[in-house]
Formats: sequence, C-alpha cells, structure tokens
Amino acid sequence: MREVDNVKYYDAVDICETFFHNKIRLEEMIDYFDTGKLKGKMIYNEWHADKKAIDEFIENVFLKEKSYNAGLHRVDLSNITLNGKILDIGGGGQGIIGQFKGEQVIAIDPNKNELEEAPSSDGLKIIMDAKDLQFLDNTFDTATAFFTLMYIPKEEHKTIFQEIHRVLKKNGEFTLWDATIPNRNIDDERYIFFINLEVIIEDNKIETGYGALWNKEQNIEYFSNLGKNVGFEILESKEEEVTFYLRYKKK
Ligand SMILES: C[S@@+](CC[C@H](N)C(=O)[O-])C[C@H]1O[C@@H](n2cnc3c(N)ncnc32)[C@H](O)[C@@H]1O
Repeated sequence: MREVDNVKYYDAVDICETFFHNKIRLEEMIDYFDTGKLKGKMIYNEWHADKKAIDEFIENVFLKEKSYNAGLHRVDLSNITLNGKILDIGGGGQGIIGQFKGEQVIAIDPNKNELEEAPSSDGLKIIMDAKDLQFLDNTFDTATAFFTLMYIPKEEHKTIFQEIHRVLKKNGEFTLWDATIPNRNIDDERYIFFINLEVIIEDNKIETGYGALWNKEQNIEYFSNLGKNVGFEILESKEEEVTFYLRYKKK
C-alpha cells in the first residue's frame, strides 16, 4: 500500500488479500484494472486503487458479475430468548449476537480482524476455531451461530456441531440462523453466494450483507439431520424464503 496526498492506494496484491481474502486470483484483478472495470492509477508502473474506487468496483462490477444474489431478507430477533452464558460461533463481522445480548456473549472467531470489527465491546471476544473449542465440557447454557456456517466448508460442520454439543450443559440450547443455498450449476460463472439482511433487534434495525464462496448446497433439512446425528433434539425449526432458524437442545 502507498500513500499519495494523504490518500491510501492499494496495489493488486493488497486488494486480493485485504478485500477478497485471496478469493480472486491476481491475474483476474490485474485484468479488471486493464479493462477499466476497476478505476486505477499507475504508481511506479503498477496499478493501484483507493478505497472509494475499490468499493465502487465491488458494488457495481464484482457483485453483479460474480455473485448469486439471494436478495434482501428480514430476520427479526425480537421474540428470541437466549439464556445464561452464550457462546457465539463466528461472532466477528457484525457480531449480531454480541449486539443483541452484550455481556452474556463470549464470541469466538479464528479471524482477529473480524472480532476487532464487531461493534459490541460488552462481551468477551476470543480468537478460536469452532473445530477445536478451548472450553471444558458442559460450560455454556446457550450457543448461537448467526450466518456463520455458510462461511465454513461442509466437511467441517460435523466436527463443529460435535464441539458445540460437548461444551453445552445438559438441556443447553443451540440456536442457528443461516441461509438456504441452492446447488451451483457447474457452468455458472458466479461463485459467490450473497444475501442482504435487515436484522431487527427491538427498536434497532441493522442492515448488513453476507457473502461466501458458492461452493456448497445447504438447507434446513441438512442442518436438522446434522444436529440429530450428533445427539441434539430439535425444539423448533422455521424456514422463510431463503433463511432458516433452528433451535436444538442437548438431551
Ligand atoms: C462474516 S461472519 C458471519 C456473521 C457473524 N456471525 C455476524 O453476526 O455478523 C462469519 C464468520 O465466521 C468465521 N469463521 C470462519 N471459520 C470459522 C471457524 N472454523 N470457527 C469459527 N468461526 C469461523 C469467519 O472468520 C467470520 O468472521
């Protein structure tokens, strides 16, 4: 990154890393510069762009070309009860559960930046992978995962469910919100699944968007079965257009 006249300019490598977590190849990014789709500036013979140009590119070019957009959906947390100590899986990003339940929440996420970004500072935030929870058995009254599992490869879901089951107390509950992701046709050029949400927490409305690699299909049946397979009982399941909600209990 370089600074010119107090403006930060990112080169193609920085952009791939910082804005796309290397989900875009370097050659592809350079091509976006060459074709003018990303408005760039040559500095020392290399393409650079400032944050404004990158944001415009993401909104007007990248998301349109490469993402399957599932549209805007409302998730209302107003009538949701979450008791006692809450373990929030993947609680970085918007950290919705942290914003909802403050001090009750222990948010874990392997990505330090995502935890730092999460707005609530009332709870505890710990850098940790859900596949290997560093808590004793029977620790938590409640666990949550709010649009986190859509970011995690399917091969890892079972281990994460087993870990959540292990650290919950007997009769503890796990509440999961996530998106229904359709199968991706092999010829489809779009490889990001994107969903916009309007999250209601009492009088507060949070607008956010979640985008993950579109490399898996998932739905409420898949997560119901996964829960039952690791020993959970299903207390409630609710499916909306593209989102779903499941509440499990450790028997
Ligand atoms: C963008 S957030 C999703 C929404 C977030 N729960 C919220 O309330 O805004 C997804 C998070 O899952 C995290 N994540 C990915 N793999 C994980 C894992 N193995 N264990 C725990 N969190 C993980 C990512 O780092 C990311 O911060």
